[in-house]
Amino acid sequence: MPNKFRVFATCDIGESINLLRNRGYEVEVYPQPEAPPKSLIIEKVKSGIDGLITTLRDTIDAEVFEAGKGNLKVISQIAVGFDNINRADANKYKIPFTNTADVLTEATAEFAFFMLGDLARKLWTAEHLTRENKWGFWHPYLPFLGDEVTGKTIAIIGTGRIGLAMIKKCAGFDMNILCYDPAYQNHDYVKAIQETMDLRHARGIQREKTWIKYVSLDEALAQADFVSVHVPLLREGESDAPTYHLFNETNLRKMKPTAFLVNTSRGPVVDEPALAKALRENWIGGAALDVYEKEPLATDSPLRDPAIEDRCRLLPHFASAGKITRLSTDPNKGMAGRCAQGMIDVLEGNYGGDLTKMPYVVNKEAFGK
Ligand code: GLV
Repeated sequence: MPNKFRVFATCDIGESINLLRNRGYEVEVYPQPEAPPKSLIIEKVKSGIDGLITTLRDTIDAEVFEAGKGNLKVISQIAVGFDNINRADANKYKIPFTNTADVLTEATAEFAFFMLGDLARKLWTAEHLTRENKWGFWHPYLPFLGDEVTGKTIAIIGTGRIGLAMIKKCAGFDMNILCYDPAYQNHDYVKAIQETMDLRHARGIQREKTWIKYVSLDEALAQADFVSVHVPLLREGESDAPTYHLFNETNLRKMKPTAFLVNTSRGPVVDEPALAKALRENWIGGAALDVYEKEPLATDSPLRDPAIEDRCRLLPHFASAGKITRLSTDPNKGMAGRCAQGMIDVLEGNYGGDLTKMPYVVNKEAFGK
């Protein structure tokens, strides 16, 4: 008996669309690579679709839920972050939404680590030197040197899934690790990492002893050579510990003048004009960003200032952009597969139709007894 569900996807999610079509779903995919205007999303939702596939570029709020009253049954977001979806509104209208946590954890953490390496060892500047024929000689310290990562201290701001994966990668580079998270601490994981550090040292795999510990934000910022950000975006009123502009002028000034900031979380966690000033005035050593307050990055962004170009790496929201991570149809490997499965679970009433038991539903609190 084919399923007669109607779905609108605000972007193409590749082969995973066929996971739905093969089950009898009628799926319309927005054909452009850019996000559709909100008015089109409203129009599609009003037309009576059962499911909506969204990206972090789509604003999903009461207006959308109101348009879907009586028909819309699920929003399936292809991303782990869901700050574009108004959770309170979703709960008010009792619409479940799903995300794609877990499958992008390692890809995002490894990319954060590569950004950190790019910044510390000045890979971008070094390649320009070669390509522009400015590499005239080998010399012990000219035209510049980079900073090693091995043996340095990193602060991991946010110890959720991606922060913990970043910890694992940093431990492999013999780094000391300061952890900070206002909302979620995983002391068991930190203890296990310390044990692996101790074992590696005891067995001669790493020469120096290294350590990991939870500290306050101030301690983390004051002591770290690298600061890597892995918090969700939480605005004032959304949490007791909002993260909006966590990296403002005050907190940037707490970092060492030689320290590097890496952000793969959400752009608005960093106050961009404050960061540009910090780089111009050398309060910190450098920054590498994959996410921005407004995406794509504005042509007149202060982060594009040529005066800070050598210290400021700018990437296009790319951290999870691995082939398997983004597009595998396997919900245990790919964001696209997980996005489709989240929709199937809700529409087909898997898990006995109990939304609180569906692994990819985020706002379970709206559906408890
Ligand atoms: C990407 O930024 C995501 O939230 O998956």
